[in-house]
Amino acid sequence: MPQPVSGFSKKTKEEKIEWLVSNYLQNDPLVYKVLKQYWNDDEKLQKLHDGFIENAISNYYLPFAIAPNFLINNELYSIPMVLEESSVVAASSNAAKFWLDKGGFKAEVISTVKNGQIHINFYGAESVIKKFFSENKSKLINSISEIEYSMKKRGGGLIDINLINSTKSLEGYYQLHCTFETHDAMGANFINTCLEEIAKTFENNSKNYSEFSDLNEYPEVVMSILSNYVPECLVRAEVQCPVNEMSTNGIDGATFTTKFIRAVEIAKAETRRAVTHNKGIMNGIDAVILATGNDFRSVEAGIHAYASKNGMYTSLTDAKIENNLFTFSIEIPLAIGTVGGLTGLHPLVKFGLLLLQNPSAKKLMQIIAVAGLAQNFAALRSLVTTGIQKGHMKMHLANILNKLEATSLETKQALQYFENKAISHNAVTSYLNQLREIN
Ligand code: MEV
Repeated sequence: MPQPVSGFSKKTKEEKIEWLVSNYLQNDPLVYKVLKQYWNDDEKLQKLHDGFIENAISNYYLPFAIAPNFLINNELYSIPMVLEESSVVAASSNAAKFWLDKGGFKAEVISTVKNGQIHINFYGAESVIKKFFSENKSKLINSISEIEYSMKKRGGGLIDINLINSTKSLEGYYQLHCTFETHDAMGANFINTCLEEIAKTFENNSKNYSEFSDLNEYPEVVMSILSNYVPECLVRAEVQCPVNEMSTNGIDGATFTTKFIRAVEIAKAETRRAVTHNKGIMNGIDAVILATGNDFRSVEAGIHAYASKNGMYTSLTDAKIENNLFTFSIEIPLAIGTVGGLTGLHPLVKFGLLLLQNPSAKKLMQIIAVAGLAQNFAALRSLVTTGIQKGHMKMHLANILNKLEATSLETKQALQYFENKAISHNAVTSYLNQLREIN
């Protein structure tokens, strides 16, 4: 039975592992081997990684891959992707190739405003807090002049503060809704620091406000935090092509696009399908978010909330035919950065950004939206033509062969043999055994 531990974070890496092994892992010496094999020999590099989070005991590798041939706004990109799902990069590359000779992807940033709230309790008359806010608004803004000095020099900073009465949703609940421009930084630290300072000024000044004192009714700050819902930080990407040039997988353009549009309509009408449809989109988005050192949890949360903005969770993509022109598009909120955070620290993130020619945050928003759109295109293209398993099972087969340590000749033979056969671990194992017996 494991005992609670105190001072775990102060232990060395070895001591942490020792504690884990003796408390949870029956002193299995193999555990050391498993964890240590991922330690980097380069001590400086290892120290850098250990510094990212507390209590690190090893490194968790994920493949870093490249999806080439993405033509975006007439510029050719090789997109870095980090993820574990076997078929995603191949699907991306296929979609990029499909659109390469059709004009590629077009993307535009619609807006870049981020936001955060100071959440307040106030049970007095609305007119009093409104009056206090309008009399003190400039003091609140001025209170962060030092914090936003550098950001302002880059043309960013606080845009505005508004008092919002949210008492219809929750009794006594008001917000200071603050909007920000953070340019190439994701800006989470900047926004949170500004919010906490504004909140402090708000509370201090409210204590000396006679109309609150007279009634002994003061506003109270509950918390101050940025919002990961950023519907004013929006990017759009699309592809377009005449219907008759859209033939694929042996199916003519008109039949393919009609079925494709139907698939999007189903994702718009049915939440169960929409979630999977959007999950496929996130396969592309998260992979680029990770490769460029951004926060995939905030992006996920914000995008899924956006998918529900009209009260029902629905498709993030849209497809239509007008005047014989097929258009497929995506619109998503993305609060990301190309400076600050991990972007200047993690060597592979630096490489990923370099490969993308050190993009501005706006450019990266466009690339990420395209990666999502391309994934959705690839998934729907398979789903409405060959079915998804054909491509998936190929990768599954490769993984099984890898696990069974198949030689390159065995792999070649197995790929041929399973071309039109059902793939399972059992079937592949017995096929390999047979092969090995013959040879
Ligand atoms: C699998 O990771 C993603 C798909 O399920 C997406 C979709 O169904 O659209 C293939």
